[in-house]
Amino acid sequence: MENHKQDETLDPKDWDEMRTLMHRMVDDAVDYLSTVRERPVWQQMPEAVMEEFKKPAPQEASSAASVYADFKENILPYPMGNIHPRFWAWYMGSGTISGVMGDFWASVMNPNLGGGNHAANQVEAQVLNWMKTIMGFPQSASGLLVSGGSMANLVALTVARHQQAGYDIRQEGITPEVAGRMTVYASTEIHSCNQKAVEMLGMGAKSLRKIPVKADYTIDLDALKTQIKADRTAGMQPICIIGTPGTVNTGAIDDLNALADICEAEGLWFHVDGAIGAIAMLADNVRPQLAGIERADSIAIDLHKWLHMPFEAGCTLVKNDAAHKNTFSLIPEYLAKKSRGIAAGNLWFSEYGPQLSRRFRALKVWMSIKEHGTERFGRMIARNVDQAHYLGQLIEKSPVLELIAPIGLDIVCFRYNPGELSLDQLNEINQEVKILLEERGIAAPGYTTLRGVYCIRVAISNHRSRLDDFEALVEAVVSIGEELNILSAKV
Ligand SMILES: Cc1ncc(COP(=O)(O)O)c(C=O)c1O
Repeated sequence: MENHKQDETLDPKDWDEMRTLMHRMVDDAVDYLSTVRERPVWQQMPEAVMEEFKKPAPQEASSAASVYADFKENILPYPMGNIHPRFWAWYMGSGTISGVMGDFWASVMNPNLGGGNHAANQVEAQVLNWMKTIMGFPQSASGLLVSGGSMANLVALTVARHQQAGYDIRQEGITPEVAGRMTVYASTEIHSCNQKAVEMLGMGAKSLRKIPVKADYTIDLDALKTQIKADRTAGMQPICIIGTPGTVNTGAIDDLNALADICEAEGLWFHVDGAIGAIAMLADNVRPQLAGIERADSIAIDLHKWLHMPFEAGCTLVKNDAAHKNTFSLIPEYLAKKSRGIAAGNLWFSEYGPQLSRRFRALKVWMSIKEHGTERFGRMIARNVDQAHYLGQLIEKSPVLELIAPIGLDIVCFRYNPGELSLDQLNEINQEVKILLEERGIAAPGYTTLRGVYCIRVAISNHRSRLDDFEALVEAVVSIGEELNILSAKV
């Protein structure tokens, strides 16, 4: 005992010095965000800087100021780029300041939202109620904030499997009788995280039936019905259909009402992977296309995508609270609820998912929605959809650019195509165009391959993008494309 100083803690020795440093951090953060447009979207981290990240953990303490200096020198200049107005890769959000403040205070308060009787749980419950209202779900539905879309789908599909198995799957596990028999249906455009979920749930990737899509990349309903019928005849046990309003490749919106009808007729669980599209219920120009979402048994929503929450934030809603709770609730004696004190109350979110300890991610959502209101978020979404169509028009006007798929929601897939080049040459040249856009710090579009055609894929979930950003993109794609085309002609 005498070797341990009893007054040592992890708190600063000098609170005033720490206050000054933290004020500087806030000033730097505001400068950083307010000038983001002036910096390149992305830059490669140099080798010398990479070496910094191979060093072992320090044994001795250093000053917080020197750690911050290290952060500013070696981390801050090399961001992913997704807060930049010309970042449209994969499918990201671009953050909110109130989200930053929410995350900051979540760490300062540092509560654990596994359960208990404290304010943070009320905040999460309120955010979930807001989400239910936005989706047209009853307030009696249950929900859970999770890390993102992948986890939101996993949680929902776990409930679906539990509810549809027809026996006590929590107790018995996947029995030999049902192994490989329970089947889940979605289009070939389904996001890969759903396949991972089906695999993790022990049903096997084969049991995720990937149904062909139509020319607009939405699920082919006739093919779906035929597959379900064939599976039943073969002795399979269909349990669930997953609809996607806003697929990751092209933003295609499955016909949710039609899927709900099939689920009703077939007695299947209707899950909606709304990671991209569900929150567009806030946007007047999208909402009608999402009709039927309110009929889902469960919805996965991604708040770090089109709601722009700082990573991570996703949400699962389940219409039948009891089905949700019965899937996950497990209360040992050390988590028993009490009638008074910190362990009182019914808001124990650990009963609704695999995690016990959970961060206060609700706060950033609560602060952001309170600051901006749902209407402004809706306007940001609606504007992105308009911008996608504006970009589409710019592409169609250009003789050397080509749209590769219908514009679904806010995703535009196109390529540089000056004519007289083979598919392989076009695929190669467009890959290089995309990389040069990044390496020159101009823009960060995404990519995909549709029916063998490599596309530059622009996913516009960015509240900082302006129309001139898309003009700049088109100009840069054309000029880099021509540069490469001339070079390849010389070879
Ligand atoms: C349709 C869809 N579902 C699920 C996900 C996975 O979400 P997350 O990356 O938040 O785990 C994505 C990600 O882009 C998606 O587009």
